[in-house]
Amino acid sequence: MLKGPRWLRDAVLYQVYPQSFKDSNGDGIGDLPGITASLDYLEWLGVNVIWISPCFVSPFQDAGYDIADHYKVASRYGTNADLQRLIRAAHSRDMRVCLDLVPGHTSIEHPWFKASCRHKRNQYSDRYVWTDSGWKQAPNLDSIRGYSERNGAYIANFLYCQPAPNYGFAKPDPKHPWQQPVSAPGPMATRQELRRLMDFWLKRGIDGFRVDMASSLVKNDPDARQTSRLWREIRAWLDTQHPEAVLISEWGDPVRSLSAGFHIDYPLLGNRYYMSLLRAEPRRVLVVPPLGHSFFDRCGRGNIREFLDEYLRLLRATRGRGHISLPSSNHDMVRVSCDRNVADLKVIYTMLLTMPGVPFIYQGDEIGMRHLRNLPSKEGSLDRTGCRTPMQWDRSRNAGFSSAPARKLYLPCDPNANRPTVADQMSDPHSLLQHIRNLIALRRRVPALQADGEFRPLYARANALPFVYARILGKDRFVVALNPSAAPAAAVFPFSPGGTVETVMASGAQLDLKTGRAKIAMKGVSYGVFAVTRPAGGGKSADSSAAARPACS
Ligand code: NOJ
Repeated sequence: MLKGPRWLRDAVLYQVYPQSFKDSNGDGIGDLPGITASLDYLEWLGVNVIWISPCFVSPFQDAGYDIADHYKVASRYGTNADLQRLIRAAHSRDMRVCLDLVPGHTSIEHPWFKASCRHKRNQYSDRYVWTDSGWKQAPNLDSIRGYSERNGAYIANFLYCQPAPNYGFAKPDPKHPWQQPVSAPGPMATRQELRRLMDFWLKRGIDGFRVDMASSLVKNDPDARQTSRLWREIRAWLDTQHPEAVLISEWGDPVRSLSAGFHIDYPLLGNRYYMSLLRAEPRRVLVVPPLGHSFFDRCGRGNIREFLDEYLRLLRATRGRGHISLPSSNHDMVRVSCDRNVADLKVIYTMLLTMPGVPFIYQGDEIGMRHLRNLPSKEGSLDRTGCRTPMQWDRSRNAGFSSAPARKLYLPCDPNANRPTVADQMSDPHSLLQHIRNLIALRRRVPALQADGEFRPLYARANALPFVYARILGKDRFVVALNPSAAPAAAVFPFSPGGTVETVMASGAQLDLKTGRAKIAMKGVSYGVFAVTRPAGGGKSADSSAAARPACS
């Protein structure tokens, strides 16, 4: 599969979690007109793609990831017409809008599921995965018994309230005749419905989908072979019918997902290389076991090779097929700001916004919103409530989320709990927000720093600092240097043919080039982005030494 539409090249994606982004009507819950009203801000920030977490009809037992009507916007967010207005307003600013697609489960309130619960057979009986007796559990899958008048247990994909539509089994077990092959009428009808649904929203102007639990569709599917085949068919259809649309997978395995036709994949909590960068300590992880020390920590005990070795392997294995994105956080993670200050975050964003792929910024991360602890589970958030609190637009009571019906708020909002605000930081030239805005502007100006520019580590030693890499495209060469540790760091590394250094953005970092080598000197917690102009008549490569290999793009 090809890499996809050109617009991905300079894309910077911003994730909107609709319930807690911007409340326009004073009911204490964010909504679509609120997002439309915030486009000025997002345009000012420089992001050009918005991914909106699910905004469809739902009983909100998993915050909207339990959909009861895929074709209709939930009334708390507005109407389908509001969504169309948002899309038009975004497009008029050259911004794209991606919706969340949740193909792996619906809500138990979905009419198709309700029909499939009936004792009497009907057209939806085989549209979900059911065992053939209420006493029988499904091997290796979560099954819920005793729910329906139908004599069977249904398969839940995530929480108990999220039954799995039937895409069939890759290897149906003859001992369990209720396991249907992917080609059976029920699974085929489910597939058709998926395409119909995608077509419905694409025809209304959306630019793509972030696909929830993209690898979970076909059951008992070793290596996700049949699930990949299904997505490849979808991609082939997309390429003919909606060639400008993109598919972003929540898969965490770019080698599989990009060959299954996705344009972008991003790491999940279980991906150690990503966790080692930002979330290795017990206080920074949810669900998965801690790993030790993050590379981005002032103690300086992290190891960049834990990230880099795997990342380089993935880049090589997916070359030319799509993008690997590195999110700042999302609505399922501990926020990147956890136990870090503005200076630390500036170093982190210098990396996240100068790497290949399409950077993802989660709402509120750009102002360093804190991860709040010990909040109750809301709408199925479990322990993820702390990263879902309302966007801190300003210091007013409830940060722009109306105070009167605050009890209806999706999440509790204490105006003092999350102090950094957009308003304060927009007017402070030294704020985190301004730093991120400057980095985005730089990235959007400089193709070498965008999705397809070559990525080449220059100095990346185990348990040593700093971390230095080059981004290269055509004649343009940029060097990025990062020192997350509180202690100063310096390094000398091969760099030929040299050239003239221009400091583009830096704090506490200095790069000097001598013939054939470079010297970087960095204060504690510092970063630098440098443009290197090739000397007249210089050689071909930015750093042709063996130490600088391998090159990846
Ligand atoms: C991943 C989503 O990001 C998460 O919020 C949700 O709870 C599960 N998938 C189930 O849909």
